[in-house]
Amino acid sequence: MVSLVQLACKASSEELQTGLGTSRAFGGKQYAFNILRASELSVPLRQKIWALFEENMHGYTSSTTFEWNPPSKKKELFHRNSRYLCVSSQGVGESEERVLVAFTMFRFDWEDTTEEKVYQEVLYLYELQVSQGYRKLGLGRVLIRDLEAIGIRWQMKKIMLTVLKANQGAILFYDKMGFNLDPISPDFVDPTSTGNNEEEEWVDEDEDCDYKILSKVLR
Ligand SMILES: CC(C)(COP(=O)(O)OP(=O)(O)OC[C@H]1O[C@@H](n2cnc3c(N)ncnc32)[C@H](O)[C@@H]1OP(=O)(O)O)[C@@H](O)C(=O)NCCC(=O)NCCS
Repeated sequence: MVSLVQLACKASSEELQTGLGTSRAFGGKQYAFNILRASELSVPLRQKIWALFEENMHGYTSSTTFEWNPPSKKKELFHRNSRYLCVSSQGVGESEERVLVAFTMFRFDWEDTTEEKVYQEVLYLYELQVSQGYRKLGLGRVLIRDLEAIGIRWQMKKIMLTVLKANQGAILFYDKMGFNLDPISPDFVDPTSTGNNEEEEWVDEDEDCDYKILSKVLR
């Protein structure tokens, strides 16, 4: 039997885009929204994706355990299961080059739960990057809303992501978007726990971990 994850992984970019806007206005300018598989990205678009990722994230390498390893990151970014939702400025004439102003990279996958050998279908958000000059216009919110719509349509249980604790701006943003600390996050403490079993000791030891796993249940 084909699983929901396999079904979503097989879906074409056109199928994922169904029902979503392909052109929207922000701050009085029009932007194109396009869903693409990693294998459908042109070489110039790959370069723009890498440049935007580098512009936004390189600064975190000095203050966190996040390692700057371009070959390994590019392998992850352009893996065959990676899907993109790219936002580009719409040129006025044919000659005007489109600027990539934001993108998300996501995959459909199985993710651990707190129960042994129990996995959930998730839309895993690997990247959400908005270029500096285009922030606070509502682009991030619309991208999250689109991913929620895709996740619901393809029957994923949650959207999940990993965020560095040092990235306070992103944490505030995800909080506004309705994300919570996921029970599998290293520093998650079960509010119903009594504080005297072995597993909770393990949780305490992990408090120094510099990232969080956030999720939002899709219904
Ligand atoms: C985090 C990020 C994606 C937000 O995108 P954005 O397009 O600026 O967000 P929006 O304009 O859609 O903002 C939605 C809401 O989040 C709030 N918000 C966005 N960035 C925020 C920040 N840095 N601090 C506090 N609140 C923020 C907005 O004020 C808005 O709230 P409102 O509804 O009360 O007006 C963007 O800042 C970014 O790309 N940062 C660098 C890359 C990064 O850290 N990505 C996440 C890696 S996990």
